[in-house]
Amino acid sequence: MSKDYHYDYLVIGSGIAGLSAALQLSKHGKTAIISKASIHESATNLAQGGIAAAMTKTDTPDYHFEDTLKAGDGLCDEKAVKFLVEEGPERVRELIALGANFDKVDGDYDFTKEAAHSKRRILHVGDSTGKEIKKTLGNAVLNEALTTFFPSTFVKELIIQNGECVGCVAIRNHTPIHFYAKSSIIATGGCGQIFSKSTNPSIATGDGIAIAYRAGCKVQDMEFVQFHPTTLALGDKKPISIFLITEAIRGEGAILRNINGDRFMLDYHPDAELAPRDVVARSIYQESQKTKNHVYLDLSPITQELSKRFPTIYERCMESGIDITREFIPVSPAAHYFMGGVQTNEKGQTNIPRLYAAGETASLGLHGANRLASNSLLDGLVFGHASALNMIKENEQPIIQDALIIKAPKSNKNTTSKIRAARHTIKSIMWRNVSIIRNKKDLNTARQGLDDLSWLLDITTIDDKILEVQNMLTVSQLIVKSALQREESRGAHFREDFPKKNPAWKKRTIL
Ligand code: FAD
Ligand code: SIN
Repeated sequence: MSKDYHYDYLVIGSGIAGLSAALQLSKHGKTAIISKASIHESATNLAQGGIAAAMTKTDTPDYHFEDTLKAGDGLCDEKAVKFLVEEGPERVRELIALGANFDKVDGDYDFTKEAAHSKRRILHVGDSTGKEIKKTLGNAVLNEALTTFFPSTFVKELIIQNGECVGCVAIRNHTPIHFYAKSSIIATGGCGQIFSKSTNPSIATGDGIAIAYRAGCKVQDMEFVQFHPTTLALGDKKPISIFLITEAIRGEGAILRNINGDRFMLDYHPDAELAPRDVVARSIYQESQKTKNHVYLDLSPITQELSKRFPTIYERCMESGIDITREFIPVSPAAHYFMGGVQTNEKGQTNIPRLYAAGETASLGLHGANRLASNSLLDGLVFGHASALNMIKENEQPIIQDALIIKAPKSNKNTTSKIRAARHTIKSIMWRNVSIIRNKKDLNTARQGLDDLSWLLDITTIDDKILEVQNMLTVSQLIVKSALQREESRGAHFREDFPKKNPAWKKRTIL
């Protein structure tokens, strides 16, 4: 039997975008926050470097605007960027008023720097900024009387009636639940788990994007996946998510060296270690190809006490036998952030009435072809809030038809190992053929390999592990399709068969 719940608002996901939306919504109506995991499992919770906002005397939203556009390599939506940089400081001040305790030095906020920022404008809490933000927003939201939090509840599909989104079907304790509301927002984060090497948490399987696409949403910029240049390279050990070494470490002065101890980034870009993220990731890749080895981060130029400024990295490296106060850190790139996703506007609206999206799931062209570091926490905060204000304006309850009864299909134990193998296959296809350096041949190999897994999409199930793999497959197929279409190199999308930017391609791929 399935259950029915009725709310004013549904928030799918409890990262920064979902919580930022829920904070506003729960002041105006009954709000359900649905999350497939606990509140602690999100990319938000893992964020290290910080949150960018033009808040110092020497900085302005205009500088932040320019830096964002430059990193986005000609594809940023300028209206969206303007909205972000102008609203950002106010949203961050609200976060501080709620209790977010960003680091200070001598009574002033300690703004740090990351690649491609012309100013020090990144607020942080050591190297675990995301935890502080999640705690602050989480406490505020869960204290609201009209909020109900549903952890361990997997959203499977949207309910579309008369062309509008009137809710979703979720699975909790192997039981389907129908949630109905007058408007819903998808804030399910990114899809880094489709790659073998990723900094993303296990929840990042692209569910919201796949669910929205199946319901009829447009998706855009799907070819743009950001690879972070520096993750801890530990040889053959392959954890689910790979440990990030924050870019702020380079912002504070760390230098990249090859296996021979030579600084190499100046050979690739005048901004060296602080060149845009895509440039640094590709340079590391190329340098590693040349030397057949990792590259290293040399932290010796940093003047701050490393165990205090970067305590998480200090401890994690120590556990792996690397004392960062004396030794170089071996690093290599991994999939990190998704610029593409469900097409939205600045109001958070998708092309389906009553359905919104925000955060890493959404794509409004804000980040263009390559996101500026520390702009995504700000994105979730600003556009989660903006979406909520628009959802609140949408006052009327939809007319909901009778609930569809979902029967739990019989589980098929034989499929478990096949599904696990398929998950692994998708990840390795994507990492081998659709990562930092792409070309037509590899992309076609990926397309064929993914098509061979199409049987997965025919399985009707309420098993969330199978649903996740289906979502991973759908998102991977969309990425490959867009990557094949874009016959040029721009931002994070690098095609060695089309190594230059093509002005004719200064447009979005929309599927
Ligand atoms: P998330 O925070 O990932 O939250 C997604 C939520 O959706 C989770 O609650 C999840 O359980 C839920 N969910 C997913 N699928 C379903 C489903 N089917 N049903 C129900 N719930 C579902 N950005 C910065 O700006 N600064 C940084 O310093 C920074 N550091 C980072 C470090 C790491 C290691 C990583 C991985 C990312 C970092 N980023 C950083 C990027 C940034 O953290 C993310 O882009 C941002 O937090 C995404 O927020 P979100 O709310 O969109 O998604
Ligand atoms: C980092 O700390 O390097 C990640 C920052 C980001 O992804 O914006």
